[in-house]
Amino acid sequence: MPTIDEVAATVDAVDGWLSRREGEALYELARACRAGDGVIVEIGSWKGKSTIWLGNGSKAGQSVPIYAVDPHIGFPDVPETYGVIKTFDEFKRNISDAGVDDVVFPLVMTSEEAAAGFTEPVALLFVDGVHEYDYVKTDFESWFPKVRDGGMMVFHDTAGPAHTGAKRFVEQSVYRSRRFRGARFVDSATIVEKVARNRPADVAHLYWTLYLKKATELIPMAKVPRPVRVAGRRVLDQLQRLGA
Ligand SMILES: C[S@@+](CC[C@H](N)C(=O)[O-])C[C@H]1O[C@@H](n2cnc3c(N)ncnc32)[C@H](O)[C@@H]1O
Repeated sequence: MPTIDEVAATVDAVDGWLSRREGEALYELARACRAGDGVIVEIGSWKGKSTIWLGNGSKAGQSVPIYAVDPHIGFPDVPETYGVIKTFDEFKRNISDAGVDDVVFPLVMTSEEAAAGFTEPVALLFVDGVHEYDYVKTDFESWFPKVRDGGMMVFHDTAGPAHTGAKRFVEQSVYRSRRFRGARFVDSATIVEKVARNRPADVAHLYWTLYLKKATELIPMAKVPRPVRVAGRRVLDQLQRLGA
């Protein structure tokens, strides 16, 4: 079984946007999944960076299957933005080279199409498809009902300086919802647990995390020296645990 550093080295060679801290968080969440409790679904695989983290995490745990949903032709819903970008061959090669193709099942279609025929309960959902508000909303509405209570949801590009539709959606519909608890953010990713109904203390913690997130977004991180950034992240991780 590769170490975290070995997984990071493999993933470093793969094109994509995921940070190492985000990758490690996905690894740990996939490792914690229990066989029989539900599967792992990834919306938006690109060339496999996040899929490789999930795959290695799953194999370090109980080898829970990962359904990797991506049309692999760029962004068919917003073609005028990027045009056609074919990524499936490189995705398959990267997954196979990383040795996780035995737990990764690609669904080469849009998230909405995949959800329409998907009947298995989901224990871990990673949302990293189109980041415009309406598309994240569609991803959410298509997949939220399939995530079991106690299941985890991760939304990429929802924290940090970028003003994505994904961030706006999550701030409105996840951090302020009665269906989640225990939110935390790792670099740009928001991680949260789905519940049947949260308690008042969970609501308070969601708001605490939301305003902590908004406060950190005011700091121009790129200008902060690296040692201060590293120490700051540690303090932030502690602050996020307060009240959880
Ligand atoms: C930000 S990239 C994903 C990055 C990837 N998770 C990584 O770690 O490198 C977004 C991906 O969403 C895919 N995509 C576009 N439209 C989609 C849709 N409707 N459903 C699912 N995926 C979609 C694109 O093909 C692209 O590969």
